[in-house]
Amino acid sequence: MAAMTESATQGAAGTAPAGDHLEIKDSRTGKVYFAPITDETIRTSDLKQIKVNADDFGIMGYDPAFMNTASCRSAITFIDGDKGILRYRGYPIEQLAEKASFLEVAWLLRHGELPTQVEYDQWVQEITYHTYVHENIKRFLEGFRYDAHPMSMLTAGVAALSSFYPTAKNIHDKTERDIAFTRLIAKMPTIAAFAYRHVKGLPFIYPDNSLPYAENYLSMIARMSEPKYEANPVFAKAIDILFILHADHEQNCSTNAVRAVGSSHVDPYSAIAAGVAALYGPLHGGANEAVLRMLEEIGDVKNIPAFIENVKSGKGESRLMGFGHRVYKSYDPRAKIVKKLCDEVLKVTGMSRDMEIALELERIALSDEYFIKRKLYPNVDFYTGLIYRAMHFPTDYFTVLFAIARTTGWLSQWEELLLDKEQKIARPRQIYTGYAERPYKTGLDYKHKILK
Ligand code: CMC
Repeated sequence: MAAMTESATQGAAGTAPAGDHLEIKDSRTGKVYFAPITDETIRTSDLKQIKVNADDFGIMGYDPAFMNTASCRSAITFIDGDKGILRYRGYPIEQLAEKASFLEVAWLLRHGELPTQVEYDQWVQEITYHTYVHENIKRFLEGFRYDAHPMSMLTAGVAALSSFYPTAKNIHDKTERDIAFTRLIAKMPTIAAFAYRHVKGLPFIYPDNSLPYAENYLSMIARMSEPKYEANPVFAKAIDILFILHADHEQNCSTNAVRAVGSSHVDPYSAIAAGVAALYGPLHGGANEAVLRMLEEIGDVKNIPAFIENVKSGKGESRLMGFGHRVYKSYDPRAKIVKKLCDEVLKVTGMSRDMEIALELERIALSDEYFIKRKLYPNVDFYTGLIYRAMHFPTDYFTVLFAIARTTGWLSQWEELLLDKEQKIARPRQIYTGYAERPYKTGLDYKHKILK
């Protein structure tokens, strides 16, 4: 990308450079600058040249919450929020959800191409081989209180893996990255299932490596005394599809957290733990949990109009959870697939009161001026919680399922960051709004003053 140039002529445009550019005139000095446009983007760092005095810092971009700032170049996931398009490496999410397996998608996200049969078989075998965790991880998880939130356990469990694999900090060694990808994708369901069993007070179930990924996970969740657990095929298929839908979503809050933490060149386990923590929040992955709590609060279809009015009036904190998205300004393409999936699961488990409330809530919201004007449509989390509830997952466990899937996207984004020569440690600027310098003077009388 060409660097920004300054016009030779003060107060006039001067000779514009060839190629697309922005012409910026600084009214303070009358100087004109040319900022090259590439990919409909200008470099905010170019603006630093615009200053009044030579020792000024120069103009910055102010963009809280990254509303209009690209933090990276990425070839992994494409989203067109207005048209409701989501593609992984160019493949439409609808086709992947219908035809691919989750581990195939995990490979695709990292490598950019679908695996060959040989690559796929080897990949599945490696993942299967690495599903067990060190016994100390098990003991570590047993140390949590009986009512610990499973996302806290998962965050801590993933962070703890860093201490078991100290060579993972050699992040520029591809072999180390390969094994970290395998270990994280393989062990995530095991730690997640152990967290589930701990809260339930049930014995931990070790992986059954004769089973495929989703079935093995469900076995670790649900198996009791039977020698072999056979998951309901509709449930196993639903889990695999939900994992595909959640595998990546470009620069969302948790991915940004993984990239920001990873930019310090910490090991991948620590970076992914940061992603799990970010996902825990109710405005991000925690929304599927919040949707179910909202449906419980509504309690009955007849209470929906009053609830909607409450949301619209802005009274209290309430939002219509599972609605709205920073990027999608039309129906989230994942939500369409999840709604269909939900129908299939409910055919097995039976229609629920929650589902009746959700359908009516969606119908009313989609025809309400408030939501239409703000382009608020159901997002992926509106129906996922209903599927998880139908499968008897506890509400506070829902986000854990999201985290298992998103680990593949986080890792791919983390590696992309490491291989991107333009990336450096993430370090935003600020506009300082505090005091100017003032002398220290205290009125406190210290009992234990530190002697200098
Ligand atoms: N219910 C009611 N009003 C809403 C909602 C909602 N769910 N979402 C946004 N709005 C309103 C908001 O009050 C604002 O109105 P006004 O212009 O009058 O002030 C307007 O719509 C724009 O909202 P915003 O907060 O500026 O939009 P954002 O892009 O910052 O927020 C969001 C995106 C997802 C955080 C937000 O829509 C939200 O809180 N949704 C509910 C939580 C949720 O479902 N999150 C899951 C997101 S999808 C899974 C994932 O990728 O993590």
